[in-house]
Amino acid sequence: MSVDAPQRAALVAAANDARSRAYAPYSAFPVGSAVLTADGAIYSGCNVESAAYPLGCCAERVAIYKAVSDGHRAIRCVVVVTDTSPPAAPCGGCRQVILEFGPDAEVICTNPAGDTRETSMTQLLPFGFGGSELRGRG
Ligand code: THU
Repeated sequence: MSVDAPQRAALVAAANDARSRAYAPYSAFPVGSAVLTADGAIYSGCNVESAAYPLGCCAERVAIYKAVSDGHRAIRCVVVVTDTSPPAAPCGGCRQVILEFGPDAEVICTNPAGDTRETSMTQLLPFGFGGSELRGRG
Protein backbone atom coordinates (compact mmCIF):
# COMPACT_ATOMS: atom_id res chain seq x y z
CA MET A 1 0.00 0.00 0.00
CA SER A 2 1.42 3.38 -0.91
CA VAL A 3 2.19 6.05 1.62
CA ASP A 4 -0.78 8.34 2.32
CA ALA A 5 -0.70 12.14 2.00
CA PRO A 6 -0.30 12.99 5.73
CA GLN A 7 2.55 10.47 6.13
CA ARG A 8 4.18 11.80 3.03
CA ALA A 9 3.93 15.39 4.24
CA ALA A 10 5.41 14.37 7.60
CA LEU A 11 8.29 12.57 5.88
CA VAL A 12 9.07 15.52 3.62
CA ALA A 13 8.95 17.92 6.58
CA ALA A 14 11.24 15.66 8.64
CA ALA A 15 13.70 15.32 5.76
CA ASN A 16 13.83 19.09 5.16
CA ASP A 17 14.30 19.67 8.87
CA ALA A 18 17.12 17.12 9.02
CA ARG A 19 18.75 18.74 5.99
CA SER A 20 19.03 21.98 7.95
CA ARG A 21 21.34 20.10 10.34
CA ALA A 22 23.58 18.54 7.66
CA TYR A 23 27.27 18.60 8.46
CA ALA A 24 28.71 19.10 4.99
CA PRO A 25 31.62 21.56 5.25
CA TYR A 26 33.63 19.78 2.53
CA SER A 27 31.06 19.22 -0.19
CA ALA A 28 28.73 22.11 0.70
CA PHE A 29 26.00 19.71 -0.43
CA PRO A 30 23.53 19.31 2.44
CA VAL A 31 21.15 16.37 2.18
CA GLY A 32 18.18 15.39 4.35
CA SER A 33 16.34 12.12 4.48
CA ALA A 34 13.45 10.54 6.31
CA VAL A 35 12.25 6.96 6.34
CA LEU A 36 8.89 5.47 7.23
CA THR A 37 9.02 2.10 8.98
CA ALA A 38 6.47 -0.68 8.57
CA ASP A 39 5.01 0.15 11.99
CA GLY A 40 4.56 3.83 11.13
CA ALA A 41 7.60 5.40 12.80
CA ILE A 42 9.54 8.16 11.08
CA TYR A 43 13.31 8.52 11.39
CA SER A 44 15.29 11.31 9.79
CA GLY A 45 18.95 11.87 9.03
CA CYS A 46 21.37 14.27 7.40
CA ASN A 47 24.72 13.71 5.76
CA VAL A 48 27.64 13.84 8.17
CA GLU A 49 31.06 14.43 6.61
CA SER A 50 34.58 13.97 7.95
CA ALA A 51 37.95 15.56 7.24
CA ALA A 52 38.90 11.96 6.46
CA TYR A 53 36.53 12.00 3.48
CA PRO A 54 35.57 8.31 3.15
CA LEU A 55 34.26 8.27 6.71
CA GLY A 56 31.37 10.58 5.87
CA CYS A 57 27.89 9.09 5.78
CA CYS A 58 24.95 9.88 3.51
CA ALA A 59 21.68 11.18 4.92
CA GLU A 60 19.68 8.13 3.86
CA ARG A 61 22.01 5.77 5.68
CA VAL A 62 21.97 7.86 8.84
CA ALA A 63 18.15 7.74 8.84
CA ILE A 64 18.06 3.99 8.19
CA TYR A 65 20.72 3.20 10.80
CA LYS A 66 18.82 5.24 13.38
CA ALA A 67 15.65 3.26 12.60
CA VAL A 68 17.39 -0.11 12.68
CA SER A 69 19.26 0.67 15.88
CA ASP A 70 15.89 1.44 17.46
CA GLY A 71 14.58 -1.96 16.36
CA HIS A 72 12.74 -1.02 13.13
CA ARG A 73 13.99 -3.29 10.37
CA ALA A 74 11.33 -2.83 7.70
CA ILE A 75 11.37 0.37 5.65
CA ARG A 76 8.33 1.33 3.57
CA CYS A 77 9.37 4.68 2.19
CA VAL A 78 12.50 6.78 1.85
CA VAL A 79 12.43 10.53 1.21
CA VAL A 80 15.60 12.36 0.15
CA VAL A 81 15.89 16.14 -0.10
CA THR A 82 18.65 17.85 -2.07
CA ASP A 83 18.78 21.38 -3.44
CA THR A 84 19.11 20.21 -7.03
CA SER A 85 16.83 20.41 -9.99
CA PRO A 86 15.72 17.80 -10.78
CA PRO A 87 15.92 16.39 -7.25
CA ALA A 88 18.76 13.87 -6.82
CA ALA A 89 18.19 10.18 -6.25
CA PRO A 90 20.02 8.11 -3.59
CA CYS A 91 23.61 7.12 -4.41
CA GLY A 92 24.47 3.54 -5.25
CA GLY A 93 25.73 2.71 -1.76
CA CYS A 94 22.50 3.96 -0.20
CA ARG A 95 20.46 1.95 -2.70
CA GLN A 96 22.21 -1.18 -1.47
CA VAL A 97 21.43 -0.29 2.17
CA ILE A 98 17.80 0.55 1.35
CA LEU A 99 17.53 -2.84 -0.40
CA GLU A 100 18.57 -4.55 2.84
CA PHE A 101 15.64 -3.14 4.84
CA GLY A 102 13.15 -2.01 2.20
CA PRO A 103 13.35 -3.98 -1.03
CA ASP A 104 9.84 -2.80 -1.95
CA ALA A 105 10.20 0.73 -0.57
CA GLU A 106 8.85 3.78 -2.33
CA VAL A 107 11.54 6.40 -2.88
CA ILE A 108 10.58 10.07 -3.06
CA CYS A 109 13.23 12.52 -4.26
CA THR A 110 12.41 16.16 -3.68
CA ASN A 111 13.93 19.62 -3.27
CA PRO A 112 13.02 22.64 -1.13
CA ALA A 113 11.07 24.13 -4.05
CA GLY A 114 8.81 21.08 -3.95
CA ASP A 115 9.86 19.48 -7.25
CA THR A 116 9.40 15.78 -6.77
CA ARG A 117 10.36 12.56 -8.50
CA GLU A 118 8.84 9.34 -7.23
CA THR A 119 10.32 5.97 -7.83
CA SER A 120 10.80 2.64 -6.12
CA MET A 121 13.59 0.32 -5.10
CA THR A 122 12.59 -2.12 -7.81
CA GLN A 123 13.31 0.64 -10.32
CA LEU A 124 16.44 1.99 -8.62
CA LEU A 125 18.18 -1.33 -7.97
CA PRO A 126 16.89 -4.10 -10.21
CA PHE A 127 18.58 -7.49 -9.94
CA GLY A 128 20.24 -6.41 -6.68
CA PHE A 129 22.40 -8.50 -4.39
CA GLY A 130 20.56 -9.32 -1.16
CA GLY A 131 20.41 -11.81 1.69
CA SER A 132 18.65 -14.37 -0.50
CA GLU A 133 21.81 -14.67 -2.61
CA LEU A 134 23.87 -15.60 0.46
CA ARG A 135 21.23 -18.10 1.57
CA GLY A 136 21.12 -19.63 -1.90
CA ARG A 137 24.72 -20.81 -1.97
CA GLY A 138 25.18 -24.22 -3.48
N1 THU B 1 25.00 12.38 -0.18
C1 THU B 1 23.94 11.94 0.54
O1 THU B 1 23.78 12.29 1.72
N2 THU B 1 23.05 11.12 -0.07
C2 THU B 1 23.17 10.69 -1.35
O2 THU B 1 22.38 9.86 -1.79
C3 THU B 1 24.19 11.26 -2.23
C4 THU B 1 25.26 12.02 -1.56
C5 THU B 1 25.99 13.25 0.48
C6 THU B 1 27.34 12.62 0.69
C7 THU B 1 28.22 13.84 0.79
O3 THU B 1 28.19 14.31 2.13
C8 THU B 1 27.56 14.86 -0.11
O4 THU B 1 26.21 14.40 -0.30
C9 THU B 1 28.22 15.02 -1.46
O5 THU B 1 28.37 13.81 -2.11
